Parts: sequence; structure tokens; C-alpha cells
Amino acid sequence: MSTQSITIRRPDDWHVHLRDGAMMQAVLPYTAAQFGRAIIMPNLVPPVTTPALAAAYRDRIRAALPAGAQFEPLMTCYLTNTTDPDEIERGYNEGIWVAAKLYPAGATTNSHGGVTDIALIRPVLERMEKIGMKLLVHGEVTDPAVDIFDREAVFLETRMAPLAKAHPGLKIVLEHATTQEAVDFVRAHASHMACTITPHHLVINRTSIFQGGIRPHLYCLPIAKRERHRLALRKAATGGESCFFLGTDTAPHMAKLKEAACGCAGCFVAPTALQTYVQVFDEEGALAHFEAFASLNGPAFYGLPVNSGSVTLEKRSGHAPECVAVEQDHVVVFGGGAQTAWSVV
Ligand code: NCD
Ligand code: ZN
Repeated sequence: MSTQSITIRRPDDWHVHLRDGAMMQAVLPYTAAQFGRAIIMPNLVPPVTTPALAAAYRDRIRAALPAGAQFEPLMTCYLTNTTDPDEIERGYNEGIWVAAKLYPAGATTNSHGGVTDIALIRPVLERMEKIGMKLLVHGEVTDPAVDIFDREAVFLETRMAPLAKAHPGLKIVLEHATTQEAVDFVRAHASHMACTITPHHLVINRTSIFQGGIRPHLYCLPIAKRERHRLALRKAATGGESCFFLGTDTAPHMAKLKEAACGCAGCFVAPTALQTYVQVFDEEGALAHFEAFASLNGPAFYGLPVNSGSVTLEKRSGHAPECVAVEQDHVVVFGGGAQTAWSVV
């Protein structure tokens, strides 16, 4: 029997943390090897809040690319309480950034400079709506009294629903959806809303984080939810609906910062991303929908052309590195150190 394989148009990753400096140098080759473009998250320290900072970061990414790599970083602006609508428009018109990211202040890694009250950025959202610039949302409330597993669903009800209603022309991506509520919400607003779905949320649930002990490398935000939510995400990702597309949320952190008394959130999934996704589509009997999810739905939502070129994946076991060295430490790879069922040719 011949090896099963699938060839799709070169995909994009619509949610990536590349970091900077030595970390970026170490992790960028993995994203650039698999994807033609990526939406680059702006949560650096300090965050990417101006066109000048975004252009400089874009140039550092381009300079760090391996020789011959064909990869285009798509930059984003980190919204704060004091973001200036004119600056937003200028960065967009000058082609420096394609979208802005709304982090509720304190919701996740390096989000302390984010937005404390969406009402404060009304003029920015109105401007974005007017010029057609996309809003990317980390959809979790930050109230410590709200259970961590409920923060996405509560955000949708109390923040996202009013936001979408107030700005009906604004195109919104709910980043890294993790719940049944999220995929239902996005479906109900699909004329102007989409969501990214990560590889890890398709294969782990909240119990995985505590399998045999506490597993810090499976901790990310939004945190993985109950099994029924994982199943809802798999159904959404593999069902062929155009409002769902690929965004890995690859979020590398040094091992010593994750294997700690207060470990930080984020999974480094870039080296195994396509292998994980394609395995999920295969298991769901939905390989026919893989190209739409990975390579077509994202560009359509962002109003960008699809990539030229293609990538082939084969159903034969491959090896993923256990970790990637960075300076004196390393980053642990999601699904690394084991055989993957599929390989990128
Ligand atoms: C991300 C990071 O480390 O920057 N962490 C994560 O758990 N996903 C931030 C984010 O996307 O929430
Ligand atoms: Zn992220």
C-alpha cells in the first residue's frame, strides 16, 4: 500500500509569538519552514505600540530568517488605553501593520499594558471599522473572581457581544478559541467574525495538564477546557466552515520559566504544528477540508491573496525534537521527543 499523502497550498499561521533576540533566532526557522506568512503578536517587552516599533520589529524578523526562507511577517499593533486612532490609521495605510490586538490588561503573558476598559478605545475601534483594519481579540475576562475555565465564555457574553453590536462593520478575529461557546458565538457572527484554533487545543483537554502530575508545558492561556470543548473545537476546525482557520499560538518560553513554582503560560508548538493539525483532520476523516482551514480561510478573511507554492504531508512517522536550545536554557517542544504520525515532506 502506498503512503497516504496530502498536498495543499502553502499555509499561513494567523497567530504567532516570535519573541525577539536569541529566542527569535532559535524559534523563527520552525515557523518559516512550515508557513508562508504569519500574524506576529505584539506582546514584546515593551509592547509593539507604534508604527516605528512595528517596522523595526518586522526588520529584525526579516534579518533573522534562515537564508533562502520565503516568509512574510504580518505585523500587529498592541492596543493600550491611550492608542491614537491617527497612528493606527497611519501604520495601516503605510502597510506596516495589518491588524491590532486587544489584550484585556492582565489576561495573559505581557498583557499588563493592555486595555483596562473597552470603552476607552471606542475611537480606535471606530477608526478601524472605517478603514477595514482587523481587530484581533484575546477573549478572556481578567476578574480574578471568575473561574479560569469560564473566562472565555464570560468574555463573549459580557464584552464581545456588546463590542460586535457597537461596531457591526468591524472585522474581528477571536484568537485561540477554546470552548463550545466560542465556536458557536463565531458561527453566529460569521459575516464579520472568525476565530483561530490552535493545534494543542485540538489534542489536549484540561485533564491532560494533570496527567500523572502537573505538566507545565501544557499550560497556556486560554487554558485547555473539558473534553466536550475539545470535541467541539475538532468539529469546528475540520468541518469546512470558512470562519475557522489555523493559528498555532506558538508561544515559546524558556524551560526554567515554565518549570517553576509560578510557571508562565504558553506552548511552543511551531515544530509540530502542521503534523498535529493534519493528524486531527485525518482522525476526523476530514482531510478534504484541511486546505481550507490551513491555507484558504485565513487569507479570505484578511482580504489577502492565497500563497503560491504548496506543501506535502505524508502519513509516515517523523521525529520531532524534544527541545530547542536557546542561550543557556532551552524551550520544550509540544509533542516533541516522540514520533509524529505525519511528516512534512
Ligand atoms: C502567550 C504568550 O506567551 O505570549 N501565552 C499563551 O499562553 N498563549 C500569550 C497569549 O496568546 O495568550
Ligand atoms: Zn498568543
